[in-house]
Amino acid sequence: MTSFWNQLPKPFFAMAPMKDVTDVAFRTVVARRGKPDVFWTEFVSADGLSHAVPSLLRDLQFNKEEHPIVAQIFSSKPEMIAYATKLVAQLGFDGVDLNMGCPDRAIEKQGAGAALMKNPKLAVEIIRAAKEASDLPVSVKTRVGYSKESLDEWLPILLEAEPAAITIHLRTRKELSLVPADWELMKKAVAIRNRINPNVLLIGNGDVGSLEEGRRLAAETGCDGIMIGRAVFGNPWVFERISGLRKSSSEFGFTKSQHSEHGLDEKLEALLELAQEFEKITPPKNFSILKKHIKAFVTGFSGAAELRAKLMMANNATELKGLIEMEKGAHQ
Ligand SMILES: Cc1cc2nc3c(=O)[nH]c(=O)nc-3n(C[C@H](O)[C@H](O)[C@H](O)COP(=O)(O)O)c2cc1C
Repeated sequence: MTSFWNQLPKPFFAMAPMKDVTDVAFRTVVARRGKPDVFWTEFVSADGLSHAVPSLLRDLQFNKEEHPIVAQIFSSKPEMIAYATKLVAQLGFDGVDLNMGCPDRAIEKQGAGAALMKNPKLAVEIIRAAKEASDLPVSVKTRVGYSKESLDEWLPILLEAEPAAITIHLRTRKELSLVPADWELMKKAVAIRNRINPNVLLIGNGDVGSLEEGRRLAAETGCDGIMIGRAVFGNPWVFERISGLRKSSSEFGFTKSQHSEHGLDEKLEALLELAQEFEKITPPKNFSILKKHIKAFVTGFSGAAELRAKLMMANNATELKGLIEMEKGAHQ
């Protein structure tokens, strides 16, 4: 079946799912500055969706600028995955992604997330349930293994279940994010994929800081797509040069000198816009969730700590605006 996955350029770039970071507000701010080829929602509990928890439906809000967008769900129960997949299809998403890599203890306790790497039979049932529940393409996001790298055992199981795409975070569950992602393993994953099921797209993930770096890693390893996560913290411009990258014939699509730097004014503007979008989310989210963005936007220059401390006092977007205006006034 053809889906948006088959129409993406190579390599394509995806924005990673990040709980309480890549919500609809943040994705809107990113989309206005430079869209990735694929957006992901934060992960959402399929079990919670089946109980119609309002805050979970909130996590599945998106705007039309965000297409293609994939909803990520997690559960250890195939029937819950089927329920949530149907819902995700009704909501107009372009794909559904199954989380099989999250190390969060509360999620693993349910037998979901990374715990599924220890229960391949159930993992396959879950993929099957999602595939049968709707026409949406199903993808999986996972890691290279649980306690140790086990691509030789784990990846063929996933490939034989035939999802449209598999994202591999190039660390084990045990490594969390404490060691550098091992991109050499992407070459191994690609070789396994080519042998077992060349139709499945492979997306590499871990420590990619820029489009250029992603493009180089895709060329070196043969993966189809690159997923970027933490590099988007405080930098909603990460994807802004995608079209330039593709048009240009230079090795990496653009030279270093073409990189634009975004100054503090622009960052504060983006931060305020984010706060304003954040307040449009219903039911409302606690403003304190936004504080990690304040940290990420206001960093890396002399005086950052002081300014950060000031902005952290804001309890809503209006207060943040006032504080930002005061800061600008002080420098005029
Ligand atoms: C704050 C935070 C929240 C995350 N939430 C999710 C999530 O909801 N679903 C998921 O599959 N991965 C989640 N991840 C993992 C990222 O998607 C990604 O795999 C990881 O950060 C490595 O990529 P990076 O080095 O580009 O950040 C999260 C990571 C962070 C830092």
